[in-house]
Amino acid sequence: MTSELVLGIESSCDETAAAVVRAGREVLSSVVHSQVAEHAEWGGVVPEIAGRSHLRKVLPVIDAALAEAGCGLDDLAGIAVTTKPGLIGSLLVGLSAAKTLAWSRGLPLVAVDHVEAHVYSATMERDDAPYPCVALVVSGGHTSLYRASSELAIELIASTLDDAAGEAFDKIGHLLGLPYPGGPSVSRLAAQGNAEAIRFPRYRPRDGAVGFSFSGLKTAVLYHLRGGDALAATPPPDAIEDRADVAASFEAAVVDALCEQTLRAAEAEGARIVLVSGGVACNRRLRDELGRRAAERDLEARFPSPAYCTDNGAMIAGLGWHLLSAGRVAALDLDASPR
Ligand code: KG4
Ligand code: ZN
Repeated sequence: MTSELVLGIESSCDETAAAVVRAGREVLSSVVHSQVAEHAEWGGVVPEIAGRSHLRKVLPVIDAALAEAGCGLDDLAGIAVTTKPGLIGSLLVGLSAAKTLAWSRGLPLVAVDHVEAHVYSATMERDDAPYPCVALVVSGGHTSLYRASSELAIELIASTLDDAAGEAFDKIGHLLGLPYPGGPSVSRLAAQGNAEAIRFPRYRPRDGAVGFSFSGLKTAVLYHLRGGDALAATPPPDAIEDRADVAASFEAAVVDALCEQTLRAAEAEGARIVLVSGGVACNRRLRDELGRRAAERDLEARFPSPAYCTDNGAMIAGLGWHLLSAGRVAALDLDASPR
C-alpha cells in the first residue's frame, strides 16, 4: 500500500458525511451535510426523507471531501463505508456510492460498523492508545457500554433497555417546546435552571450489573409537568413555569446515570481509561462531570472534539484504515444491515 489515504463515507442516519484521513489519524477533510432542518418539522428523523436527502447529497459531499483534501480517487488506498447499523434505505445510498467508486477505480472496499467507529472517534485525535479500556457510545440511536482491547476488538457490555439518552433529550425537548434536536436546546435552557430543583429518578440495575434505562425518567418528567397527576393533560410549553429547572434537573439525571454506570463498568473491567462518543458526548455537563468523577477515581475520561462526537466521515475513514491494514477488505457483494 503506497498511499495511506482512506475516503470514509457515512450515511446511516441523518448526516451525509465524507472525509479523507491519512493513516487513520490525520484528518485532511471532513464534510458533513446535516439533515436536521429537513426533519425538524416532524420532530424526529423520517426514514423516507433521510434516504432521498442522502441520494441528493452523497456525491457532492464526497466531491467536496476529496477537493478539500486536495486529492483524487486515484490517490486513495481504499474506500471505507458504514454498512451497519442504521436506517437501511440510508445505509444503501452510501454503500452503493462506495461500491461504485471502488469498482470503477479498482480500490479496496472496507465495511465499517458505525458504533465501532464512534468508539474509535474518541481515540483518533491522540497519539497514545487507550487500550484496554471501556467505551460509552451515547447518541440518538445508542446508549451502550463496550470493552475494547484494540481498534478492532470491541465487545458489548450493556445497552439501554429502552430509549437512547439522545432520544430522551429529544423527547423532553419536544415536551418543553424547544427546537429539534432536543439535546443542544435542552442543554442551553438547562444552563439557566437549577439542576437540584427536582429530584428525577436514576435507573440502577439490580445485583451490581451495569445498564441504562431512560423510560422511567421520561415518565417522571411528564408527570412532573402534569403537576403530579398522571391523568391530567400535559400543559403547553409556554404554560410551564419551571421549564429551565425541569431541563436542568432532567439533564442532571441523565448525566448522573451515564457517569455512574460508565464508572462502574470501568471498575468491573479494571480499565483505567473510558472513551465517550456519540452526539450526547457534546454535552457540556457530561464532559465536565464525567471528567471530574473519573479523576476522583484515578481514571481518565476521553472525549472527541464536538465535531467528531456527532456522525462524521472521519471516524469511518479512520477505523477503515485499521481494517484495511489488517486485510479486512470486503467483496463487492457486500450488504448493509439495519442491526
Ligand atoms: O451521534 P449523533 O449525531 O446521531 C446518532 O447516531 O444518533 O447523535 C445525535 C443525538 C441527538 O439525540 C441529539 O439530541 C444529541 O445527540 N445531542 C446532545 C447534545 N448535542 C447533540 N444531547 C445532549 N447534549 C448535547 N449538547
Ligand atoms: Zn452515530
